[in-house]
Amino acid sequence: MTIYLNGLYLPVEEARISVLDRGFIFGDGVYEVIPVYSRRAFRLSAHLQRLQRSLDGIRLANPHSLAQWTSIFDELIAQSESDDSYLYLHITRGAAPRDQAFPNPPVAPTVFVMCNPLSRPSAALLASGVCAVTAQDNRWLRCDIKAISLLPNVLLRQLAVDAGCAETVLIRDDSFLTEGSASNIFVVKNGTLLAPPKDNLMLPGITYDVILEIAAANSIPHEVRKISKTEVFDADELLLTSSPKEVLAITRLDGQPVGNAEPGPMFKRLYTLYQEFKRDVMRAP
Ligand code: PDD
Repeated sequence: MTIYLNGLYLPVEEARISVLDRGFIFGDGVYEVIPVYSRRAFRLSAHLQRLQRSLDGIRLANPHSLAQWTSIFDELIAQSESDDSYLYLHITRGAAPRDQAFPNPPVAPTVFVMCNPLSRPSAALLASGVCAVTAQDNRWLRCDIKAISLLPNVLLRQLAVDAGCAETVLIRDDSFLTEGSASNIFVVKNGTLLAPPKDNLMLPGITYDVILEIAAANSIPHEVRKISKTEVFDADELLLTSSPKEVLAITRLDGQPVGNAEPGPMFKRLYTLYQEFKRDVMRAP
């Protein structure tokens, strides 16, 4: 596989970074995950806007213009063996003697991009839904930055894997829903789609935005507001969204059925509309 690293296209085995890279030492960097369908990046400008927001959040200059990013992506997509893939891009504050403070003068950032095959959820998983567990959201207070320092998410996600499940649903202050360890979470109650508001406690998901746009365009009742822990456990349906998983039904939570433990009508409608939306966007010139 060919990857992009600091201006070069290289076989992944030949790519090298310094052990003093601040991404390695401090997790001092940000990243993006962009799905590619039929060799075209999905919602590219929204992903690059969020990247800019994350870079601003850590006070790091964007190393590339839109034209430069696009040319890197085009090259990696052209070399990908798969029509459907995802771009992973990762920018750190570069390599410098170990000191928490920013290097002064600044050093060149490290820029890494790869394009991997996308494995979308199987038909079986779409039909059955997935199970999830809940946990206290013990992450920092800037979860809106897509930071590469993901140790809390790693530990929280493993709780789900340990329980044979797909995701950990995070509850802040034992009181309200934030998101999943690697996804956004929606609650469905009495035919209304409920989404937590974008704030510093969750990642502003690109798929989350698409789902809310689809709901608005199709007159699906929806509300963006704080969702209590009780509402999560009383949900008729629970949905998770992310770029690689798109939209999936959570049918069991902490070992208990969600609704009747099957993907419900809201999931089915949104899944179908999401696939149509993707086809339309990908067909557009
Ligand atoms: N993660 N919340 C968190 C904590 C996430 O890590 C992700 C995605 C999302 C969903 O965002 P989007 O719809 O833009 O993919 C929400 C990516 C896929 C990852 O870390 O691999």
